[in-house]
Amino acid sequence: MQPTPNGLADATLSFIGGGNMARALIGGLRRRGVPGTSIRVGEPGDELRAALVRDFGVHATADNLEAVREAEVVVLAVKPQVMRPVLTALAPGLGEHSLLVSVAAGITTAQVRNWAGSGRRVVRVMPNTPALVGRGASGLFAGPGCTERDRARAEELLAAVGVCAWIDDEALMDAVTALSGSGPAYVFLLAEAMQAAGEAEGLPREVARLLARHTLIGAAAMLDQQDEEAAELRRRVTSPGGTTQAALEALREGGFEALLARAVHAARQRGVELAHAAEG
Ligand SMILES: NC(=O)c1ccc[n+]([C@@H]2O[C@H](COP(=O)([O-])OP(=O)(O)OC[C@H]3O[C@@H](n4cnc5c(N)ncnc54)[C@H](OP(=O)(O)O)[C@@H]3O)[C@@H](O)[C@H]2O)c1
Repeated sequence: MQPTPNGLADATLSFIGGGNMARALIGGLRRRGVPGTSIRVGEPGDELRAALVRDFGVHATADNLEAVREAEVVVLAVKPQVMRPVLTALAPGLGEHSLLVSVAAGITTAQVRNWAGSGRRVVRVMPNTPALVGRGASGLFAGPGCTERDRARAEELLAAVGVCAWIDDEALMDAVTALSGSGPAYVFLLAEAMQAAGEAEGLPREVARLLARHTLIGAAAMLDQQDEEAAELRRRVTSPGGTTQAALEALREGGFEALLARAVHAARQRGVELAHAAEG
């Protein structure tokens, strides 16, 4: 996506927290032509600040109030557990019309507005770890009062590190967390299980590791590059009565799809519980 007029390239942009996710987003923006000079970062760690300045030419400071001064878009990229004190301290320094974009897992737009000021426009984002390598999948929710430009700017930010999907009902952000937020771990578990299965069939460990990993990477590349449903790609590699069909039947008999549905549901339930615990 190219920078749009009135988009992030024209905005003064500030990050609170300069850790992994902020670095990924800043790197993505810089690659898309957003100048480092329009980005300010508030981050307490000396080394992280120095690395951000060196790698991206941004302005980095330990003073969050300095970081947000005159910022039109403020990206909240601190850990969820410190969001409340960080926002409470930041609130008096935020510009009246600043858009807040929170990437903190599980923190609701209502919580951000409680802590930063009830009139604040907030976009809540749930990115995932592959954003760190530019292949993220993010769910976005626009809180009350957000404008089309707010949505466009938030989307431009997240599109710099992957694909975006807008969610209309904030309660569904727990489902996003359960599917794409936690999802990379399901794939890593699949990689482990496939490697172990290959070893159990007698393949040397390194051979099983290489073949399992690259089967996942290759299959993911086909999903990415071929404009076909997963079901169609699966059908094409499943000859009737063949080896793949035998494997898929064993997976189905063992309840593979139902088990995955249960796993995603359990993750969603846990997200709901954690949000309630944070309220209490
Ligand atoms: N990484 C992911 O894949 C991922 C995926 C989805 C969502 N997220 C969300 O993204 C957010 C950031 O995650 P992360 O992985 O980037 O964590 P991280 O690497 O720990 O980055 C957070 C940074 O914020 C800094 N910080 C702490 N207190 C601060 C303060 N008062 N003011 C400014 N900065 C402060 C931390 O410094 P210290 O280390 O010195 O405390 C740290 O450098 C989290 O809310 C997380 O839920 C991350």
